[in-house]
Amino acid sequence: MSETAATAGSVPASTAVPAEQYNYEIVKKFAIAAVVWGVLGMAAGVWIASQLAWPFLNFDIAQITFGRFRPVHTTLVIFGFGGNALFATSYYIVQRTCHTRLYGDKLALFTFYGWNLALILGVITYMAGITQGREYAEFNWQIDILIAVVWVTYFWVFLMTLLRRSQPHIYVANWFFMAFILATALLHIFNNLQVPVSLTSPHSYSLFSGVQDAMTQWWYGHNAVGFFLTAAFLGMMYYFVPKQAGRPIYSYKLSIIHFWALVFLYMWVGAHHLHWTALPDWVSTLAATFSILLLLPSWGGMINGIMTLSGAWDKLRTDPIMLFLITALSFYGMSTFEGPMMSLKSVNALSHYTDWTVGHVHSGALGWVAMITFGSLYHLIPRLWNTQLFSLRLVYIHFFLATIGIVLYIVSMWVAGIGQGLMLRAFDEYGNLAYTFTESVVFLHKPYVVRAIGGGLFLLGMVIMAFNITVTILSAKREARATEASRAAAASAS
Ligand code: HEM
Ligand code: HEM
Repeated sequence: MSETAATAGSVPASTAVPAEQYNYEIVKKFAIAAVVWGVLGMAAGVWIASQLAWPFLNFDIAQITFGRFRPVHTTLVIFGFGGNALFATSYYIVQRTCHTRLYGDKLALFTFYGWNLALILGVITYMAGITQGREYAEFNWQIDILIAVVWVTYFWVFLMTLLRRSQPHIYVANWFFMAFILATALLHIFNNLQVPVSLTSPHSYSLFSGVQDAMTQWWYGHNAVGFFLTAAFLGMMYYFVPKQAGRPIYSYKLSIIHFWALVFLYMWVGAHHLHWTALPDWVSTLAATFSILLLLPSWGGMINGIMTLSGAWDKLRTDPIMLFLITALSFYGMSTFEGPMMSLKSVNALSHYTDWTVGHVHSGALGWVAMITFGSLYHLIPRLWNTQLFSLRLVYIHFFLATIGIVLYIVSMWVAGIGQGLMLRAFDEYGNLAYTFTESVVFLHKPYVVRAIGGGLFLLGMVIMAFNITVTILSAKREARATEASRAAAASAS
């Protein structure tokens, strides 16, 4: 790195290459796909939340029962909404900060069609009951191969763009993206090592068995959280927060420490998903220790993001996009405090197998991942289409609906999870269980209804965003056509 920390903290200004020389078409495609999958994935979330509250909604139709629809939800929100948003923002950020056009137009286009085809195939196969049964890696082996090819292409496009940069410096957001791309390749390939039943069958056997299989799956599972749902969105954060605030990042040095500590620590913590199982006890302890250590870089990153606004706090009063970004950081701080606590074996004995975990997941997923994505897309989309957002008032409405939705979701899951955990562990004076399992299920009904309402509000906000963005894009296209027509008329008149 040749610059001083102070100059390096500024997101490089993007004057060296005229905007029309960047490949914005690919960024636009991924951004639109993120919004479409966001609406569908969250609608699937509200649907399965409603099925848990009112089980008759399963309608005895195998394809839409909770069991088959749950991976449809997780796949669409994580890989559809989150994944497409990450492709869009990483392709945008790498071009803007490296002052160069994205490498390989056709290769980038292949990543778009390949990735989204894999998602569509995933949804169809899950609904048909075809799944590997590995959480967040349910795709069958043929789709796994497609994803591996897409991912290696993504790596190549990103790396080659970095290599042809016209800047000596690689801005920190790109470091996070690079770590995310490399780690995801590693995780995807190792967790999906398997032997197909036959070349024509969608089914396969994992190469691992027993506790090794569980360990491999949760090494994958937690690093999907660490590198996909966290590191990559931090890449987004390190670009869009300073851009929207109009200030350099608070401390560039801290962002480098944040990066190295995070990538070093995350790889070790997967076993905290397997406390009190056949896993050797020392592995559990190791995972819990590293999980606690993770609090430090996580909070360092959160403080770095939030303090970027120091001296410009008034923006929170006037800028709803900033509200999304800063609230996202607050939820990042909250879920990375809750996670280490839940990784303690004694706390996990209560929280595991309960809805507390689901509440923790969504304080990260809705509060951090979705909110930072909303803020980034609201910043990005008008710039891509060279226009203004149709309505800032709708952005405010979206923000309040999303925030109320999250609070209802998380609080109801805390009540459900802690209540459930305590009920399942309560004994009477003779040492018998104080509650039957059915009693704990009855207890869950009310929190499930509140969660479905909270999810509904969150989804409504997402639909409003989709509307706001559609009108923004359509009016930008109309304006562009009108300008073109008047230019053509002026040219023919002269
Ligand atoms: C409208 C918003 C949403 C609603 C109503 C919703 C609802 C749900 C429900 C009911 C479950 C199943 C919980 C269970 O098995 O008991 C679930 C699981 C999950 N959802 Fe969502 N969700 C929403 C948005 C999201 C978003 C945006 C993400 C990620 C970016 C996400 C990630 C996940 C994950 C990772 C799981 C699995 C949790 C676990 O295994 O503990 N969800 N969601
Ligand atoms: C320092 C950071 C974090 C630590 C140490 C941590 C720790 C944990 C722990 C202990 C569990 C419960 C495991 C179990 O009982 O099975 C868990 C579950 C989970 N966490 Fe976190 N967490 C952190 C941050 C986050 C963030 C920011 C997100 C989301 C963006 C997230 C997403 C998840 C998911 C999806 C699960 C559920 C996995 C499943 O069972 O399907 N975590 N986490």
